[in-house]
Amino acid sequence: MSQANLPLYPPFPRLEGKVALITGGASGIGESTARLFARQGAKVVIADVQSDLGHSVSKEIRSESGQPVSYVQCDVAKDSDVENAVKTAVSMHGKLDIMFNNAGITGKYDPSILSIDREDFKKVFDINVYGGFLGAKHAARVMIPQKKGCILFTASIASVCYCGIPHAYTAAKHAVGLTKNLAVELGKHGIRVNCISPGGIPTPLASKAMGGVDMKTLQETCMADAILKGVPVDANDVAEAALYLGSEESKFVSGLNVVVDGAYSLRNYSSTN
Ligand SMILES: NC(=O)c1ccc[n+]([C@@H]2O[C@H](COP(=O)([O-])OP(=O)(O)OC[C@H]3O[C@@H](n4cnc5c(N)ncnc54)[C@H](O)[C@@H]3O)[C@@H](O)[C@H]2O)c1
Repeated sequence: MSQANLPLYPPFPRLEGKVALITGGASGIGESTARLFARQGAKVVIADVQSDLGHSVSKEIRSESGQPVSYVQCDVAKDSDVENAVKTAVSMHGKLDIMFNNAGITGKYDPSILSIDREDFKKVFDINVYGGFLGAKHAARVMIPQKKGCILFTASIASVCYCGIPHAYTAAKHAVGLTKNLAVELGKHGIRVNCISPGGIPTPLASKAMGGVDMKTLQETCMADAILKGVPVDANDVAEAALYLGSEESKFVSGLNVVVDGAYSLRNYSSTN
């Protein structure tokens, strides 16, 4: 191919005309992704349980980006809510290109298998695993006839290494290995399925897990924990991975777990416990 015929990558805006539904989009990683996707030309629907925040965040992103950005109330653990969220995105915009199953909770920080609470364990699985599964199911129903689409999950580095996180959360994030199964089942329909595994990211979820520490201190902790030094990590670092996986630049990428952790997972933390 001559230089003159080389494709112009990346095309800008990178998600022009695409429709994205983001669960857990009212806060943290989901909010940053909604912001970045809209800035890159996507029409975004934020699905969350935090209604006031979801409405205000979508209004803010809408006025900042000039893109249609809306909010739908959705508990990802409820089949009918997820179905409604997908139907809302399709009825507003005519299709669904990107389904980002990102909503998640840590559950209680109970370090011992001897005292773990059954209800807590079930809740973590209902939201982190079944919620993602439902998102994939309802998105697939729309994407199969489209013969195209991109399904993303947010897992965690807990899916690839020990990192001192509760047992239920760690087990749930491993289950997001559902990515590979779905990449095989849906690949024949032209649908790509990928997963992102963040390390410590300063968000309300991580702050709560660390006893309500402020964002600046949390960012410093995340930076100190990473092997890669000097990078002021924030939720946008995960959003950038989602942007790549949701854009045409990754059109031949499926079944991947993209770890975004400044190489944190290369260290064996179990030896320090
Ligand atoms: N922050 C980190 O250090 C980190 C690291 C690895 C993985 N993750 C994962 O990233 C994802 C996003 O987390 P975050 O750090 O941005 O946290 P966050 O708390 O800032 O955002 C999570 C969002 O999910 C929403 N949510 C919770 N339960 C829901 C439900 N049942 N239905 C719909 N929405 C629901 C919350 O309301 C919130 O807006 C989660 O899956 C989390 O497990 C986070």
